[in-house]
Amino acid sequence: MQTSWIPFIPESASTISGKVDALYFYLSGVTAFFTLLISGVLIFFVIKYRRRTPFEIPRPIAGSHKLETLWSVIPFIIAMSMFAWGAQLYFQNARPPKNANEIYIVGKQWMWKIQHSTGQREINELHVPAGRKIKLIMTSEDTIHDFFIPAFRIKADVLPGKYTTEWFEATKPGTYHLFCAEYCGMNHSGMIGSIIVMQPTDFDNWLSGNASQQSPAVAGQQLFQSLGCVSCHGANGEGGRGPALVGLFGSKVSLNGGQTVTADEAYIRESIENPSAKVVLGFNPIMPTFQGQVTPEQLIQIMSFIKSLQVSGAPAPAAPMPTPRAEATKTATPPPDRP
Ligand code: CUA
Repeated sequence: MQTSWIPFIPESASTISGKVDALYFYLSGVTAFFTLLISGVLIFFVIKYRRRTPFEIPRPIAGSHKLETLWSVIPFIIAMSMFAWGAQLYFQNARPPKNANEIYIVGKQWMWKIQHSTGQREINELHVPAGRKIKLIMTSEDTIHDFFIPAFRIKADVLPGKYTTEWFEATKPGTYHLFCAEYCGMNHSGMIGSIIVMQPTDFDNWLSGNASQQSPAVAGQQLFQSLGCVSCHGANGEGGRGPALVGLFGSKVSLNGGQTVTADEAYIRESIENPSAKVVLGFNPIMPTFQGQVTPEQLIQIMSFIKSLQVSGAPAPAAPMPTPRAEATKTATPPPDRP
C-alpha cells in the first residue's frame, strides 16, 4: 500500500481524487493565509496602539465606507469561489455517468457483500478494472453503513430500505483500503476490505475465471417466477393484470391520480414492498405486498432482471460488465458496450 508524498494523505488513485485534493488545498491555503494575516495584524496593532501613558485617551474613529465595502466584497468573492468550485465538484461526484458498469453492494453487520452484474460475488474485496467507469448501487440489510474508499476520495452512506450510489474511475492498478465510515455497532472498526484495481485485460481474465455463479438478472428471473410475479406481469414481463415491465426501467410512468414518476431503483423497490403507494394509470391496486418476503439481495436481483427487460433495439440504461457467459446475455437484449 503506497502513500502520498505528504504524510497522512492517502494515495490519489481515481479520476476525481486530484480534483478533490486541489479544492482541499485551496481551502486550507485560504484558511492558513487569513489565519496568519489576521494574527499578524492583531499582534502589530496591539503593539502599535498600546497605551503609552496611564491617562491616554484614544482619538475617536469616524469609520470608512470604502474600507467596510472592501472587507465585505473580498470575503464574499472568496466564499463564492469555494461554493462554486465545491458545487461543481459535488455534482460531478454525485452524478454517475450513464455508461458506467454497475456493481451491487450490500452492507451488513459487519461485512461488505459485493456482486458484479455478471454474477461474481465477493466479500470485503472488490476487483475493478483501471480506466473504466464503475457505478456502485448500494443498500444495507440492517443498519446504516458507509462505503468509503479514501484513495478514490469517495464516500457515501449505505442505508437500509434505500439505494444510494457512488461512482469512480480508478487510474492505476493497486490495492486500496475500503472502510465503513459510519458507526454501525460493535465490530464497525473491523468492517474493512480492499479495492483491487487491475489492468483491464487482467480484470477480464479474472471475471471469466470466476464465472461459476449466476448473474443477478438470471437469479431475478427465477425469483420472478417463484414469487408468482408472472401471473400478473407475464412470463417475460409483457404485462397482463399488472403493468408491463418491458422497457420500464428509466421510463416515465403515469399514475392513477395524475402524477408521473420515473421508474428508478427507488420506485421499483417501493412498488414491490408497498405496491398500493403508486398505482400505474389504468390498473387496480390488487398486488400484494412483498415486504419481508424478499431480502435486499433478492430485491437487487429482481431489479436487475427488470432492468434487463429492454424493448428490443433500445439501448440499455447502463452497459453491463463484459459478459463472458451466454447466460447473462440471454435476458439483456443489446450486446454490452466494451469501453
Ligand atoms: Cu458498517 Cu460501520
